Parts: sequence; C-alpha cells; structure tokens
Amino acid sequence: MAKPFFRLQKFLRRTQFLLFFLTAAYLMTGSLLLLQRARLRRRWFHHFMGDPPGPPALSPEAPQPATSSRGTYVGCFSDDGQERTLKGSVFFDLRKMTVSHCQDACAERSYIYAGLEAGAECYCGNRLPAMSVGPEECNHECKGEKSSVCGGVGRLSVYRVEELQPGSRKRRTVTYRGCFRLPENITHAFPDSLVQANVTVETCSGFCSQKEFPLAILRGWECYCAYSTPQFNLRDAVDSSLCGQESEAQRLAEYCEVYQTPVQDTRCTDRRFLPTKSKVFVALSSFPGAGNTWARHLIEHATGFYTGSYYFDGTLYNKGFKGEKDHWRSRRTICVKTHESGRREIEMFDSAILLIRNPYRSLVAEFNRKCAGHLGYAADRNWKSKEWPDFVNSYASWWSSHVLDWLKYGKRLLVVHYEELRRSLVPTLREMVAFLNVSVSEERLLCVENNKEGSFRRRGRRPHDPEPFTPEMKDLINGYIRTVDQALRDHNWAGLPREYVPR
Ligand SMILES: *[C@@H]1O[C@H](CO)[C@@H](O)[C@H](O)[C@H]1NC(C)=O
Ligand SMILES: *[C@@H]1O[C@H](CO)[C@@H](O)[C@H](O)[C@H]1NC(C)=O
Ligand SMILES: *[C@@H]1O[C@H](CO)[C@@H](O)[C@H](O)[C@H]1NC(C)=O
Repeated sequence: MAKPFFRLQKFLRRTQFLLFFLTAAYLMTGSLLLLQRARLRRRWFHHFMGDPPGPPALSPEAPQPATSSRGTYVGCFSDDGQERTLKGSVFFDLRKMTVSHCQDACAERSYIYAGLEAGAECYCGNRLPAMSVGPEECNHECKGEKSSVCGGVGRLSVYRVEELQPGSRKRRTVTYRGCFRLPENITHAFPDSLVQANVTVETCSGFCSQKEFPLAILRGWECYCAYSTPQFNLRDAVDSSLCGQESEAQRLAEYCEVYQTPVQDTRCTDRRFLPTKSKVFVALSSFPGAGNTWARHLIEHATGFYTGSYYFDGTLYNKGFKGEKDHWRSRRTICVKTHESGRREIEMFDSAILLIRNPYRSLVAEFNRKCAGHLGYAADRNWKSKEWPDFVNSYASWWSSHVLDWLKYGKRLLVVHYEELRRSLVPTLREMVAFLNVSVSEERLLCVENNKEGSFRRRGRRPHDPEPFTPEMKDLINGYIRTVDQALRDHNWAGLPREYVPR
C-alpha cells in the first residue's frame, strides 16, 4: 500500500517540478520576447499620452476668450466642411495647448489669424469666412489652461495675431525668387492682381499673403498673385538684369520679378482620414533614421490623407500627424509607418513602400534621435563613448536584414531611395502616389514641393563633427551595402544609389 503511494507522490512531485519548470520557462520566453519587442518599441514611445477623455465641456456662461492673450479675439467660426477654414500651419498639443502658444506659433509664421479647436488643436491662416457662429458654440477648455476657451468640436476660437510680435523669433518676410519670363496666358497663370498706383514689393506681397498666395509678382507697376504651376514654375529663372530696367521698359519687355510671400502654399494642406476603410493594407517601411517621418509628411500633403503608425509618438502627433493616434490597424490611413522586420509583421501588410537610405546617414540620424530627440544632435561625449560602436555593431546588421526581409516576405513592393526622393522630389512622389492608387493633380505635387521641408528635418550631421566611422566600422557597413545592393538586383530592382557604394 505504502509503495504505490510513495510512487504516486514521487510522480506528482516530479510532474509538479516539471510543470514548475515549464511554467517558468514559458514565462521567461514570454518576457524575453516582450523585452525584445519593448526594446524595439520603447524608442518610439516618447510621451505616452493615452486616449484623451472626451473634452470637458464648459457651461455656456463660463467661457471667456483668454484675457491674458495678446491677439484680438475675432469670434467663433465653424470648421466642419470638407476643407479647413484656416488652411495654414497646424499644431496639436493634447496636454498643454494654450491660447498664447497658438498665437505665437501663427504669428511667428506671419499669419493673420490663429484658431484653436477642440481644446488641443491650433490652426493658422490668412482668410476667414464672413460668417461666424454663435459664441456659445466655442465651449471647450484649453488643455493647458484652465478656464480659457479653445474652440469646440468643429469650432474655432479665432484671434487676430497680425500685429503681434512673436516672442523669441523674427517674423518671416518676403524672399526674392528671381526674374522670370511672363507666362503665355497671364490671366490663367496669375489668378489675382492688384491695380493701384505705385505698387511696392511690400504692398504687393501684403496683398497676396492676405489672399493666401505664396507668390507675389511685380511687372512694372502691376502686381499679380500666383501659385507655381506647370505653366509657371520657378525652375526657369532668367538673368536678373533682364528685370533690372525702368518700370515702363520692364512692363513692355515680357519679364517679371517673383517674390515668395511668407504664407504657406495652401493647395495641399487639407488632410483627412480615408472616407471608407482601405481594402489594401499598405506599410511605409524603413529602417529608423531613414526619413520615414519626412516621407509621411510628403505622402500626407500629396494625397490629402493621414498616415498611420505602428508605434505612437506624441511629438509627431503634436506636429499635426493626426493618424499617429489611430490604431495602426484602423485602415483609416493611407499607409502605416513601421520599422519592423519580422516575417509575421511583414506578412500582415498587403503591400509596402520600402524606403531605403544610405546606412551611414541613417545610423548618424538614428543615433542623434536616440541621444537628443527628433531635432537634436548627440553630444561629443555620446560619440566618444562605447555607446556609439555598440550602436553601429547592432544597427548596421539590422539595416541590411530590414531590407532583405522586406524583399523576401513583402507581397507587393515599391522600393524608394531616400536620396532619389530628395534629388527629384516630384517624379519620385508621383510614383509613390500612383502606387497608392491616389490620383493627384500636378498643382498639388508642386505645392508639396513648396512645402517640402515640413517641421521634422534635422539639418544633416552637425558641421565640424569629426568623421564618426572607424575603418573597422566602414568595413562592416560596406559589406552590408554590397549584400543589400545584390539582393535588390536579384529581385529585379535597380541597385543602391551610387553614392552608397564603398568609398
Ligand atoms: C487664358 O486663360 C483664361 C482663364 O483660364 C481663359 O479664359 C482664356 O481663354 C485663355 N486665353 C488664351 C489665349 O488661351
Ligand atoms: C506715385 O509716386 C510718384 C513719384 O514718387 C508721386 O509723385 C505720386 O504722387 C505717387 N502716387 C500715388 C498715388 O501715391
Ligand atoms: C492599386 O491597384 C492595383 C491594381 O488594381 C492593385 O493591385 C493594388 O493592390 C492597389 N494598391 C492599393 C494600395 O490600393
């Protein structure tokens, strides 16, 4: 009797042990996988802000247009339609939006109006519709300022900020773009004009800015406002001396002087979510530091649709990437940013734009971002520490496996080289937009070209930095470049741009 009992006990103890081990092992692998994932994801979770709770509505008697603000309150305006009411720059801040923050942001860019919406959004513009709505419809409290009003849902609290001197930085002004031959059909190419004696650059630019035209054109005493178009593009400047004549002679001689006004080209600034869920799920895939955010900026402005992200980055959301906060599988966005390179992550997408950048530049950009954020630069001590060689060692192989994996598992690809996009923006963007099956006018692409920088570009590596790559690092990276170059050719793509190829 005792023997089987002991045997049973022993068996149970053993199974328990085994179970314990299995559980422990299971948990450990689980957390290792999680760690691995967290390692990847953590970097993009700068400020996790969570979903905003419904905005606190104020009672009708509570709202007071901010008194501390320096602009003049104009009224509450509707922002419901297909097109935005204020079409200029956009900023969001889910936690800290205030009236003066928005006013400064718009004044700095020389806009006439600053409008706050839904407690957290700020829009700039130079034109307002004639009719405002009832003042009680602007009833949301600003996220960053108790008891002041920041619009409502589809409602803008608008301030005039024209006379404001923005705090720290100078207002942008007009810039001379050169002397140009007049287009064949002036009425067609120059949609608006100012007829007035003694027109100056200032009066003409002021008039055109007010009407949201990015170009002010002077020909003798005539002032025209225009956008760049295929019929009148700014690549074909002529010798400036052809414009440098007496006004009367200039008027007769078919030339004109072109100035860029401080306002943004607004033909491509409206963006929205897809009206119906997309059937094809498209990735915008790149290695970190390869210009993914910049490509998103271009795609959003070209197509007019928001892009999404596999991650969540509050700083990007605050700059107007509204799709950042959508769930990445919502299918309300035109494409979804990802840096992932696992087979499963790749196969979830039906197609992908694969954005590739020179690994030397990607590594520097990503190291800067890791050390100092989206627009900062890593400090000297970062470059000199062990951190940098460690970073190069692990990231260089990831740079290559990222491309190889997408080539292998991606279902339908468009390979885009960052350098090509920089060098010839409009044609490359035209290809990307065609791949996304969106039809876009040539005017809209030219508008994107005028707005091409966005607010998310670090200007190269800081000047005067020493070359950060040692000969061993270069050997390593060059090896990966050759591998990727070959893999691209094997998949019937052109190889890497020539400038990558080992020096
Ligand atoms: C010039 O453009 C205007 C406006 O688009 C059009 O009505 C007119 O017919 C054009 N004239 C010529 C000569 O093409
Ligand atoms: C235009 O300028 C001329 C010469 O500077 C001046 O005599 C004339 O009064 C001005 N006209 C107007 C309408 O300002
Ligand atoms: C675009 O259209 C082509 C051909 O109809 C289709 O194969 C592809 O999946 C579409 N792509 C997107 C992103 O909708």
